[in-house]
Amino acid sequence: MENPVENAKRLAAFKAVDNHVVSGVIGIGSGSTVVYAVERLAQRVKEEGLEVICVPSSFQAKQLIIQHGLKLGDLEMHPELKVTIDGADESDQQLTLIKGGGGCLTQEKILASCAEEFIVIADYRQAFSFPLTNCGQSKILGRLYKTYRKASENLGEQWSKGIPIEVIPSAYRAVYQRIEKTLGGKSELRMSGSSKAGPVVTDNGNFILDWNFQGVMNWKEVEVTLNMIPGVVENGLFVGMARKAYFGMSDGTVMERA
Ligand code: A5P
Repeated sequence: MENPVENAKRLAAFKAVDNHVVSGVIGIGSGSTVVYAVERLAQRVKEEGLEVICVPSSFQAKQLIIQHGLKLGDLEMHPELKVTIDGADESDQQLTLIKGGGGCLTQEKILASCAEEFIVIADYRQAFSFPLTNCGQSKILGRLYKTYRKASENLGEQWSKGIPIEVIPSAYRAVYQRIEKTLGGKSELRMSGSSKAGPVVTDNGNFILDWNFQGVMNWKEVEVTLNMIPGVVENGLFVGMARKAYFGMSDGTVMERA
């Protein structure tokens, strides 16, 4: 049986590619939803003779482009993109996004900023949830499996891992302390997990801090404040960048936000 979340990702990605891609230079984001966008792009190139050059936002995106036999480009040769298509971890009603769950936020933001149109694709991600209780195993299971919606009212009410911030490795502790003093909340250094000891290292050779903030904030101010801290390379808040978002839903429809 088909996985409904994967199906939702595919629906959103296909619709976005069909509605927004014409021949030209296309920015390719990162993550699991973008996989379907590249699949559809390759189909359209084959079937319609669309002429596209794809600029990747990550090692993963580059591999996808190559695997699908699409033309690979870079920003040095093509600094102006027609459209960039990318996933998101959460989007509020104004299309303010949290991105960087996959650690590629810096290149993703660059590609979004170079495009005439930045289009977001995502799923509904809400199917599995049950109440948290205060005792024993249920509490642990609740924490592990609680799901969230990518389309939220206010940023942070669904995505619980905080805002990813790419930092120069030697500065991570200084940045961590500065964020706590200026903006509050708590940050965590993102760790690799079981496959490698130590922190996650980005495609740029940097570390990622995940900053857990409190409440609704002025996101443009927060984005600028974070980027003014020496040692911060970029943060995963995308404010006023997305033109439109497509959310694949569990019933096979695609919800659009603009
Ligand atoms: C990568 O760094 C991220 O910004 C992704 O675009 C984001 O995490 C969405 O990923 P999925 O499509 O896998 O949910």
